[in-house]
Amino acid sequence: MKWFCCVKCCSNDVEKYNDDVEANGFADGKVVDSMKGKRFSSQRANVANSFTFRELAVATQNFKETNLIGEGGFGSVYKGRLESGKVVAVKQLNLNGVQGNQEFIVEVLMLSLLRHSNLVTLIGYCTDGDQRLLVYEYMPLGSLENHLFDLEPDQEPLDWHTRLKIAVGAARGLEYLHCKANPPVIYRDLKSSNILLDNDFKPKLSDFGLAKLGPVGDNTHVSTRVMGTYGYCAPDYAMSGKLTIKSDIYSFGVVLLELITGRRAIDTTKKPGEQNLVAWASPFLKDRKKFVQLVDPMLQGRFSVRSVHHVVAVTAMCLQEQANFRPLIGDIVVALEYLASQAEIFEKRKSLTAVDSQYLPSKQDINHAPKKIYYKCKE
Ligand SMILES: Nc1ncnc2c1ncn2[C@@H]1O[C@H](COP(=O)(O)OP(=O)(O)OP(=O)(O)O)[C@@H](O)[C@H]1O
Ligand SMILES: [Mg+2]
Repeated sequence: MKWFCCVKCCSNDVEKYNDDVEANGFADGKVVDSMKGKRFSSQRANVANSFTFRELAVATQNFKETNLIGEGGFGSVYKGRLESGKVVAVKQLNLNGVQGNQEFIVEVLMLSLLRHSNLVTLIGYCTDGDQRLLVYEYMPLGSLENHLFDLEPDQEPLDWHTRLKIAVGAARGLEYLHCKANPPVIYRDLKSSNILLDNDFKPKLSDFGLAKLGPVGDNTHVSTRVMGTYGYCAPDYAMSGKLTIKSDIYSFGVVLLELITGRRAIDTTKKPGEQNLVAWASPFLKDRKKFVQLVDPMLQGRFSVRSVHHVVAVTAMCLQEQANFRPLIGDIVVALEYLASQAEIFEKRKSLTAVDSQYLPSKQDINHAPKKIYYKCKE
């Protein structure tokens, strides 16, 4: 909540902000100016430092290849060390890329205003000449994507409890954006590569370049050009361009499905019927008896079927075609917190072993009758 909630914001300001950002780049400073003296002026901002290009070149050893930690649509991301000794991630805008100034300014503005332990911290930025760079806190375990897909032979798959812990943290970040920020923020780019992980697998949402200030007053949506990432984008938003907080809930459902299955939202290396995760999963999501068949084989049966049933049920609700039927993020947080706490109880029994990795549920399990535990302790 903090100060962000106290900001009195009228709908004209929100619309002006969204319009300005759509219309103007950073270079002419119009967006920044339009917000100065309005909503932002009285706020205690999350102070982002302005860096010179030289400072960031020194920090990354001249953007040395060995410091490259990732690449996305915006540009390359390098690990670096500031003069103060702080380790950071430096994202350099690809000047020929499709994403650009507009996302840069939204990122700086949004992350200057928003503060939550499940959102990545922006340390600073650089606008020397044509250069556009963003400096973030360094997230040692990279993105969720790095831990779910195409694992190295020596890489341990995420266990069920850690997957739920990540889902809870991401949901809390989204809850802050939807319910605690005022006006609400629609994230628009929720996906596994934008969920970064600290040393303890605590997740933080990153990349707010596509974020929009949400509807205020009686409005239920904001109209925008359809943007986001294929495979995560809600069908209603893709078709109408009407963006609502329920668009984010759909994307969250896709991330949950990735966590459950260990499959990418879009995977062109798979055979035709399996390339789109939601389409592939849809018959399983409609039939409780098939829920357990969705689970990532890398888990080798190390999960409670009961827990899987509940998590898949939440996922199916998030992925409803009709936006109105998707749950609110607050309810998702409550459900996932409970499920994660239950999964932790399993996980704490370090010496548990799976009884039967090939387990398929019986009718009794499907009805949730007794609390069935599919583990036994090593004697
Ligand atoms: N703060 C950070 N700390 C550590 N690693 C990071 C950080 N930010 C980004 N990365 C790494 O860089 C990769 C690329 O990130 P980036 O946000 O540029 O692209 P993306 O999310 O993969 O794609 P897109 O541009 O479509 O959002 C991430 O997947 C992650 O591995
Ligand atoms: Mg990203």
